[in-house]
Amino acid sequence: MKVLVTGGCGYIGSHTIVDLINNGFDVVSVDSNIRSSTQLLDGVEKITGKKIRNYKVDLCNLEDTHAVFHENRDIVGVIHFAALKTVPESVADPLFYFHNNLSSLVNVLKCVKEFNIPNLVFSSSCSVYGNTTELPVVEATPLQEAQSPYARTKQMGEQMIQDYSKVNDTQSILLRYFNPVGAHPSALIGELPLGRPDNLVPVITQTAIGKIPKLTVFGHDYDTRDGSCVRDYIHVMDIANAHTKALQYLLDQKNTDNCEIFNLGTGNGVTVLEAIKAFEKISGVKLNYELGPRRPGDVIAIYANNTKAKQLLGWNPNIGIEDMMRTAWQWEVALRDRVLSN
Ligand code: NAD
Ligand code: WQD
Repeated sequence: MKVLVTGGCGYIGSHTIVDLINNGFDVVSVDSNIRSSTQLLDGVEKITGKKIRNYKVDLCNLEDTHAVFHENRDIVGVIHFAALKTVPESVADPLFYFHNNLSSLVNVLKCVKEFNIPNLVFSSSCSVYGNTTELPVVEATPLQEAQSPYARTKQMGEQMIQDYSKVNDTQSILLRYFNPVGAHPSALIGELPLGRPDNLVPVITQTAIGKIPKLTVFGHDYDTRDGSCVRDYIHVMDIANAHTKALQYLLDQKNTDNCEIFNLGTGNGVTVLEAIKAFEKISGVKLNYELGPRRPGDVIAIYANNTKAKQLLGWNPNIGIEDMMRTAWQWEVALRDRVLSN
């Protein structure tokens, strides 16, 4: 059974391809490489022994996208990861985000419709919940206003798929990821941020390896157990496996609605300072960090209720914060060693 993965050269897409192949699926990827190269697919090939074809196509181009679907009419589903994801960049250039993330989705939906593709899985984000005070968040928690154009593209993307699903036969699943972190245990694939990262875990590992001089903890006077923000960090291989399970759930026709939503988090809130401590413990590296001012736009705390994904998809995220940090660190060290040996 063949699956079309968009954004397969990216962080979560590449890890998901590994899990799909391990579960017997064939995969083709479409990725314009606007935020990636084929480096991670090389890693996927080393891990799985399978060569993955990537179509270097911008999904905003309907003709090119159509050609890929035409060539792969036998796919059983699409997993749509491709999008831009940097919150500050989206604030600075909203139209770039609306164009890239939404017109690509319209084109994918047009092709899914034309070629009668039965199943679609979409990468959504906990950022659709906005500044919610209801914790932990369940899928039915009302969405608050998006805090960035990026988050708005995820709210709008969800609504577009929901509207589409009401009048078409495609079965869809929207997966709301919390904070995906870590890397494949082989250290052959992992997160490859372009430029200086904004997300906590790459900032931690890049500080520890010396690429970034110092980490600033954004806010230490919040009303949380140690004053820093709380997030639901989730290992990327657990996220990856949820996609395989979501696709299998659709293939087995276990869904009760044309479009269903699932939270993908561990359900455990971890503070920034706890994340740093976990990293220091597993790496033995003393991190150079300081307590700094709050970062505008940060929510104080957010974590998932993941009961629905566990019960219906049979998903069981079981990688803890220390292994998240360990694999992220092994990946950072592997990247350095690769540079040194070149
Ligand atoms: P990533 O940037 O590593 O991968 C996204 C890939 O999509 C990149 O390889 C990029 O080149 C490709 N792409 C972007 N626009 C494209 C287009 N128009 N046509 C073809 N390819 C295009 O990001 P990721 O972390 O793997 O994220 C995957 C998905 O998950 C995204 O939709 C993102 O919004 C969502 N998500 C990510 C996180 C996170 O923290 N990483 C959290 C929640 C949701
Ligand atoms: C986590 C915590 C920071 C960096 C973002 C997107 C969201 C989703 C996941 C895609 C926060 C703190 C960070 C640093 C710090 N992505 N931090 N110092 O903001 O929860 O979510 O990624 O959908 O949409 O907004 O993740 O990793 O940036 O921050 O103290 O140098 O770490 O303040 O509390 P965030 P993050």
